Amino acid sequence: MRTQVGIVGAGPAGLLLSHMLHLRGIESVILESRSRAAIEATIRAGVLEQGTVDLMTEIGAGERMKREGFVHHGFEIRFQNRSHRINLHDLANGRTITVYAQHEVLKDLIELRLATGGQILFEARAEGLEDVTSDRPRIRFTTKEGAAEELICDFVAGCDGSYGVCRKAIPEGTVRQDYFRTYPAGWFGILAKAPPSSHELIYTHHERGFALISTRSPNVQRMYFQCDPNDKVANWSDDRIWAELHARVSGDGFRLKEGEIFQKNIVPLRSFVAEPMQHGRLFLAGDAAHSVPPTGAKGLNLAAADAHVLARAIGAYYSANATDLLEAYTATALRRVWRGQWFSWYMTQLLHRFPDAGAFDLKRQLAELELVTSSRAAATMIAENYVGLPLS
Ligand code: DHB
Repeated sequence: MRTQVGIVGAGPAGLLLSHMLHLRGIESVILESRSRAAIEATIRAGVLEQGTVDLMTEIGAGERMKREGFVHHGFEIRFQNRSHRINLHDLANGRTITVYAQHEVLKDLIELRLATGGQILFEARAEGLEDVTSDRPRIRFTTKEGAAEELICDFVAGCDGSYGVCRKAIPEGTVRQDYFRTYPAGWFGILAKAPPSSHELIYTHHERGFALISTRSPNVQRMYFQCDPNDKVANWSDDRIWAELHARVSGDGFRLKEGEIFQKNIVPLRSFVAEPMQHGRLFLAGDAAHSVPPTGAKGLNLAAADAHVLARAIGAYYSANATDLLEAYTATALRRVWRGQWFSWYMTQLLHRFPDAGAFDLKRQLAELELVTSSRAAATMIAENYVGLPLS
């Protein structure tokens, strides 16, 4: 099998890239190890930066998002049982965020890709890459039927997430350096059939640990609370979950609305960057090259930005035989990635209580929370980073 750009992974980076290449007249094939149903049912984050919303709209994938997503003009930071509003719209030049779940984004992109003749091979598992430093790289893969095949391409886009095979094709130590940090915390996430408790997201600092009140629709709410990363979902009955959430977010007249919990999961908090993001004709995008702790919801948005930069660079290669944007890919993408890393770390350390933190750290956090909710300059810094950098 042969194509111009072989894409490993039908996540946000792979699907966006494939469609942006299509709009430039460039052919691609996506290999995805999971089934379409599994991808479309996996619960992830749900906050789209202004730039991601604009990109989805521009490429013709924004219709349902515009109809069903929720535009938020601000969010709340809550500490010592009181909420303080960060007015995104006002502080970030009219820019806002949109709450629209990642799997809805994926559903829209898959549908659009298939409707425009895109090739996505579901349940096709990439086994490894060959000859990525030649001009004829190959992806070895196993088809849904179990046959061993090869996809021969001009370029390989590694969009296969943190645990994919693509990053491994960049030799660690000699060419590739990994930057890694773990946090002694996880997020326990739930989906509940309940009315919204607030019309904006609430990021809560509490001595018992962080909590986040988010939403999905008028009838479904998304909530998270900081937990031990090694904890098990089975340890948390519905009653225990509600008691913990109430303990962290109640007070000052605010009362969380309960409902039937129909989904529970635990995600670890970690920061990771692999440099460079390119090796020969292999380009990494999204979680294959970097992951962020969820605080601030940067993961999907960084993946979308990588895809945008890469599509433009590959586009310039095919339209003008220009290689300068391809050569600049790592540097261009990493500027945003490290800003996202910093902001995700910043929000994480500001809002979580870590087991090794003492009384000093608590007082320091409260002083900083006071600062970011009372100084327009400090709140502007948060707002600008939260809505995201414009896509250049
Ligand atoms: C959600 C996830 C996040 O990581 C975040 O910072 C805000 C919202 C969400 O899933 O709704």
